[in-house]
Amino acid sequence: MKKTLAAALALAMVLGLAACGGGNNGGGSQTPPPPSGGSSTSQTGGSSAGGSNVATPAGPVANKDKPLVWYNRQPSNSSTGELDMEALSFNDDTYYVGFDANQGAELQGQMILEYITANIDTIDRNGDGVIGYVLAIGDIGHNDSIARTRGVRKALDTAVEDGGAIKSDAVGINQDGKATAVKDGKLTIGGKEYTVRELASQEMKNSAGATWDAATAGNTIGTWVSTFGDQIDVVASNNDGMGMAMFNAWSKENKVPTFGYDANADAVAAIGEGYGGTISQHADVQAYLTLRVLRNALDGVDIDTGIGTADDAGNVLSDDVYKYVDSERSYYALNVAVTAANYTDFLDSTKPFGPVSAQLSTDSHPTKSVWLDIYNAADNFLSSTYQPLLQNYDDLLNLKVEYIGGDGQTEGNITNRLGNPDQYDAFAINMVKTDNAAAYTSLLG
Ligand code: BGC
Repeated sequence: MKKTLAAALALAMVLGLAACGGGNNGGGSQTPPPPSGGSSTSQTGGSSAGGSNVATPAGPVANKDKPLVWYNRQPSNSSTGELDMEALSFNDDTYYVGFDANQGAELQGQMILEYITANIDTIDRNGDGVIGYVLAIGDIGHNDSIARTRGVRKALDTAVEDGGAIKSDAVGINQDGKATAVKDGKLTIGGKEYTVRELASQEMKNSAGATWDAATAGNTIGTWVSTFGDQIDVVASNNDGMGMAMFNAWSKENKVPTFGYDANADAVAAIGEGYGGTISQHADVQAYLTLRVLRNALDGVDIDTGIGTADDAGNVLSDDVYKYVDSERSYYALNVAVTAANYTDFLDSTKPFGPVSAQLSTDSHPTKSVWLDIYNAADNFLSSTYQPLLQNYDDLLNLKVEYIGGDGQTEGNITNRLGNPDQYDAFAINMVKTDNAAAYTSLLG
């Protein structure tokens, strides 16, 4: 009896696959495969709120043909920033989900400049006519980090170009303004000219090699303060994890405006206590897209379903919150500045985005299993904002997700835990280093 049922199911799945032709590459819409039942092959993680929470068997699809989404760290060369198109087009159902790094970086720079302009009468703490800032850099080889460093330097007129691109190297200590990666900027505000100096910048990497390291930033601000004292008028950071570490260690008490990125809940709340501002990279939209592209590929429907085109539950995104660049196989969420003027709207950073928060039915979207890793379980943004959002959406999209948290240092710590890819229907990957896509695709290939 059991055997007959299994054989019938296998046949139904083969027919279903044949009917939808396997891939679904943003072309015309396709008929979803018939729902299939079966025994669970899935692991811990999300459950389906819409009905059965038993994942359908992974079936006969080869691992190399299963849907794959890269997220948060875009496969690219960490020295040149060049995209790794081989990884981004690993198969017909491969995509990247992130956010528009340049638009966000520009916003961050503008936000800081606007703050300085609005507070020019009090910003220069020692009244020497030089507005001094320090900058915490996340990962000198990460394209988001590079963009943010450039955005701040461009807005504050401290940028130096090299071959048409703004330099993004850390300067270390730049007390005399002679560093070659930056220059002293000039800002004219209220008819008066001010000099702006990047007093110091450093990649916040701990001794074990983890980047974007908040604890390192919290210690480093102490060193910077003992070197520069009240020359520091502004603190800028490539993210909120490091920004909040510096705020809590020093700038809050000393009332020095500190700016980060990510709109993590603690940072947004701190705006009420003097944190200068942050940028929302619309993690609520990104987390949705991360799982949605997998859902669509697994359903064999047009990839735009529930994204630019409403799905059967009414989920749809408007084009002011994301863009898709086909030549890069990438979805990018758009950023929003979060300041004293609007922060109360952003206090809950883990709430699903309203227009895409409708539950899918398990009849037409049967539960599937997904393997997903987070490069560093201790990363503030990914653990306090992104993962809780993913956990909300996995229920809504009927995906049973196994979450793997890495150590932030070695790819092997994560890939070791993808021992049996056959068990999963799809994969969501967050690499330690943007260069390392092959460490994952070789396991699937
Ligand atoms: C976030 C950082 C985070 C990094 C991890 C960035 O997009 O802004 O906070 O540490 O991703 O890759």
